[in-house]
Amino acid sequence: MIPTSLTEEEFNRFITLIYKVAGIKIPNTKRVLVSNRIRRRLRATGLDSFSRYYLFLTSSSGSKEMPHFLDEITTNETYYFRDIHQYNWFSDAFLPEIVQKARLGKRPKRLRIWSAAASNGSELYSLAIKIQEKKAILNGWSIQLLGTDLSASALNSARVGVFDARTLRLVEPDLRRKYFDESPETGLATIKPEIRGMATWKPHNLIRPSLEDPFDCIFLKNVLIYFDAGSKAIVAAHMIKVLATDGYLVLGPTEVMGSMLEGLTKRQTWLYQKSI
Ligand SMILES: C[S@@+](CC[C@H](N)C(=O)[O-])C[C@H]1O[C@@H](n2cnc3c(N)ncnc32)[C@H](O)[C@@H]1O
Repeated sequence: MIPTSLTEEEFNRFITLIYKVAGIKIPNTKRVLVSNRIRRRLRATGLDSFSRYYLFLTSSSGSKEMPHFLDEITTNETYYFRDIHQYNWFSDAFLPEIVQKARLGKRPKRLRIWSAAASNGSELYSLAIKIQEKKAILNGWSIQLLGTDLSASALNSARVGVFDARTLRLVEPDLRRKYFDESPETGLATIKPEIRGMATWKPHNLIRPSLEDPFDCIFLKNVLIYFDAGSKAIVAAHMIKVLATDGYLVLGPTEVMGSMLEGLTKRQTWLYQKSI
C-alpha cells in the first residue's frame, strides 16, 4: 500500500531535488501537498514507496519520468488578460512606441515577444490578440511570439489552444466572438488558427542558460514567487542578457526582484526597461 505522507527525510530529499532541477523553493510547511502530488506519480508508475520512486526518478532509466514529476510539482494557474492594466500598457503604450521608433528609422520593423513561464498559453495568446487588434499600425512588421515553460503538459495545452470559461472570464465578448470558436456542447472555446499560428512553443527551464536572440518584451509573471533569492538572481541575469536595448521586462504586480535588476530602469513597480 502507498504510504499517506513523505517522512521528513524523504520530503527533504525531494525538495532538494526540485530546487536543483527547477529552482523552485518549496517551504517546509508543504509536506502534505507535496506528498499528495507525488502519490499520483507513485500510482501512475506502479511504485509502492516514496523512496523507491525517488531512486527511479534520479536513475538514468527515470529521466522520462522527470517531466511528469515536474508537472505535478508546478502550479500552472493562469488566465487570459490577467492584470489587465499590463495588457493595456502593451497595446496602448508599448506598441505605439515601437511603431513610432520604426517610423523614425530608429529600429527595424521586427518585434520579438517572450512569455517566459507561459503555462497553458493564455498569456501569450492574450498578447497575440492585442497585436492582432493593432494590426493596422503593424503593417509590414515581422512578429515573433515565443512561449516557454518547464511543464510539458502545460505546453501541450498551449499548442492545442482549447480553454474553459474560467480561463476566458476576462476576455471581452466581442474579442471572444472574434478570436475563439465556442462549442455549446462542451462549453470550451478553441483559439482561432490566425492567433494560434502567431505563437511558437518550446520547453525551457528558466534557471538554465537563456535563449539567444534579444527580445523586445518579456512577460515573466507569477513564477518568481516560487523561487528563492538564489534562483531569482540566476533568472534576473538571464533576462537582462536577452532583453533588447530599450526592451521591457514585465513582472507580476507583486513580484519583487529588487537590486537583482540593476542595469534596468524601473518604469512601474512591475515594469523594467533596458537602457543603453
Ligand atoms: C502560475 S503559472 C504563471 C503563468 C503565467 N505567466 C501567468 O502569470 O498567468 C507559473 C508557471 O511557471 C512554470 N515554471 C515553474 N518553474 C519554472 C522553471 N524553472 N522554468 C520554466 N517555467 C517554470 C510552471 O510550470 C507554470 O506553468
